[in-house]
Amino acid sequence: MDTHISSRKDDHLRLAGQFYAAAHSRQTEQIGRSEHREIDDVQFIHNSLPETNRADVSRETSFAGIHVDRPFFINAMTGGTEKTNEVNRRLAAVAQKTGIPLALGSMSIAVKNAQTRDAYKALRQDFPDVCFIANLGAEHTLESAGLVTDLIGASALQIHLNAAQEIVMPEGERDFTGWIDHISQFVSELGVPVIVKEVGFGMSYATVAKLLDIGVMTVDIAGRGGTNFIQIENARNAEHDYDYLEGWGISTLRSLSEALFACRDMQIDAEIIASGGVQNPLDIVKYLALGADAVGLSAPFLHSVTGGSSDSDSARDAVSRTVDLIQEWDGHIANIMTILGVTSIEDLRENAEIVLPESLVQYLSQRFA
Ligand code: FNR
Repeated sequence: MDTHISSRKDDHLRLAGQFYAAAHSRQTEQIGRSEHREIDDVQFIHNSLPETNRADVSRETSFAGIHVDRPFFINAMTGGTEKTNEVNRRLAAVAQKTGIPLALGSMSIAVKNAQTRDAYKALRQDFPDVCFIANLGAEHTLESAGLVTDLIGASALQIHLNAAQEIVMPEGERDFTGWIDHISQFVSELGVPVIVKEVGFGMSYATVAKLLDIGVMTVDIAGRGGTNFIQIENARNAEHDYDYLEGWGISTLRSLSEALFACRDMQIDAEIIASGGVQNPLDIVKYLALGADAVGLSAPFLHSVTGGSSDSDSARDAVSRTVDLIQEWDGHIANIMTILGVTSIEDLRENAEIVLPESLVQYLSQRFA
């Protein structure tokens, strides 16, 4: 077993959970820095005559060939060690019960170490109805991409772009060449849809344009505002070398705008997934209204399947709590769409009225005027 990878995965799980909990328990000043959320200043115009029956409100959408009844999914986190496999089993149980897709964390450990593959095979066998999405870094070969996709019977493969994370890791990668060629090969030869995603630093117009140019049709911008790997790596390393870099990246809201402008200019109707710092059903409805095809969440689900646990908090309790959370969020999304007077995601995008914060308008005019 590669002890570097496995202890890093356990650290990521622990620290991501701690930072998420801190950010949501008013202890933010002590542990992490809270940032103003521009998405809070995106405002729907209230509609007092919605003329809509909630029973008619569909939340269906699709991305990467995956059709879903709810417009959100569990985004990539973990796997490959004993502790993280248990988290994946809980997430898979949630996915099995709700039909929500589950993106697994990077499966590079399964490429490097054949012994870790059994846990993935068991996951596939024990949760036969789950729509799994495999995950790998862009440095990998087509053969490795095929291996992890087959291992979990994945409906799609996520390729993560994590240069900002690697560069602050003492043991991290330093050579980021060749990624575009690899992704281009995955897109044309893998045989399952490819989603290219960030890991919490957002994608720019130019990045998205390069991806569209090589045929990528699903992009997950994974912007800044939630899980922050520079912060996590600083906490893992006693010297806290990169404290000053914790504000790096493009926020999810701004990155979504960047991606949509790239699609518009290149006249490519690619699917854009919004993720990174999504905190509640209203955030989801806003990102969909602004043009996202689906929304991904990582830390909130990690917190729900692992956090708040006492000794008596069994895996079953954690799973049923998370199933309830998903159903509650879906219900709230339906409620918000109802009062907006829209009955589908397309209707939401076309007809809900939105006012953008002045700071975003200024940003967009500087970037795209
Ligand atoms: C992640 N994320 C991630 N992404 C990826 O593509 N491959 C991976 O292996 C991981 N690993 C990972 C571990 C843990 C513990 C967390 C919390 C997250 C990044 C994740 O998919 C997402 O892009 C960011 O977490 C931002 O979303 P949230 O957490 O703010 O909802």
